[in-house]
Amino acid sequence: MKRLLSGIKPSGDLNIGGYVGALRQFVKLQEEYEGYFFVPDLHAITVPQDPKELRERSRQIAALYIAAGVDPVKNTIFMQSQVSAHAELGWIMETQAHFGEMSRMTQFKEKSDGKDAVSSALFTYPALMAADILLYQSTHVPVGEDQKQHLELTRDLASRFNNRFGKTFTIPEPVIQEIGARVMGLDDPSSKMSKSNPNKSSYVLLLDKPADIRKKFARAVTDSDMSVRYDWETKPAVSNLIELYAVFSDETIPVIERRYEGQGYGAFKKDLAEVVIAKLTPLQEKYEQLIKSEELDHILQDGARKASHEAQKTLDAAKRAMGLLTY
Ligand code: AMP
Ligand code: TRP
Repeated sequence: MKRLLSGIKPSGDLNIGGYVGALRQFVKLQEEYEGYFFVPDLHAITVPQDPKELRERSRQIAALYIAAGVDPVKNTIFMQSQVSAHAELGWIMETQAHFGEMSRMTQFKEKSDGKDAVSSALFTYPALMAADILLYQSTHVPVGEDQKQHLELTRDLASRFNNRFGKTFTIPEPVIQEIGARVMGLDDPSSKMSKSNPNKSSYVLLLDKPADIRKKFARAVTDSDMSVRYDWETKPAVSNLIELYAVFSDETIPVIERRYEGQGYGAFKKDLAEVVIAKLTPLQEKYEQLIKSEELDHILQDGARKASHEAQKTLDAAKRAMGLLTY
């Protein structure tokens, strides 16, 4: 059976970039795979977090998985920190990772750039991510474009370990879709849509109210000529909006281009807000029910039990292979 594993950090409110790049794929792919979807809370604490907010956001991310359509019966949904094998195999992967290759990780460079004090865990984070994936013998990992480098490192570490100690880990494949792998900011098509941007109009949150969504799309930057045409070279801002339209309406890009031919941006941006709202409204309703319920905590407790059982098998195999005692 093919196994899917992925996670979204509880480090801020989830924006539609994470939905389009990752969460939407979880829902689509769950039919064909055995799914493990976790909340990487140990990753979130590589930067300072307020304890109360972290707790709330972690539940929020799990509720959003389910509200978006990840079936908690069919899949295993859990918190990373509740399965101690992650931290343990994370350490083991650090012993296999080279300082040089870790130093080349662009996400670390971006996140540490200009800061006086960054945690050493922010630097070793990709080794923990490798452990997350390898523990479940995952065959496929759906992520946005920005995680591709971490996936390549995971594959390298798995092969290195297998070569040294005998076959222990499955080498995973990244699953990165063509449309929506990198959603750009609404204020600037040269930077990724991100919740760390201080300009709140640059991103749409999954839990934004319809009025805010309309306002943000109305303010979104466009390109100089007035045509709704898909061309990343000359029209990056509009191409970004067209991709969002395509994803949220389940229509193809040529159909959208034809609809707005000769119409300018006004009607296009208004309709874009409506297709996004139409998709997010049912998700938000489901979320509101779940976040208040104990059902969510039961799902997570159950998930942690199942995940621990599965993860322990790989952890033990890795420890044995390396010469660590496991009795
Ligand atoms: P994060 O919220 O950083 O944990 O990201 C969660 C997932 O969403 C990862 O797979 C990212 O690659 C993906 N992602 C985050 N931001 C974007 C974006 N702007 N466009 C596409 N995918 C994204
Ligand atoms: N590093 C990912 C991000 O920043 C989150 C993550 C942690 C992850 N472990 C993972 C994603 C394992 C996929 C598989 O978005």
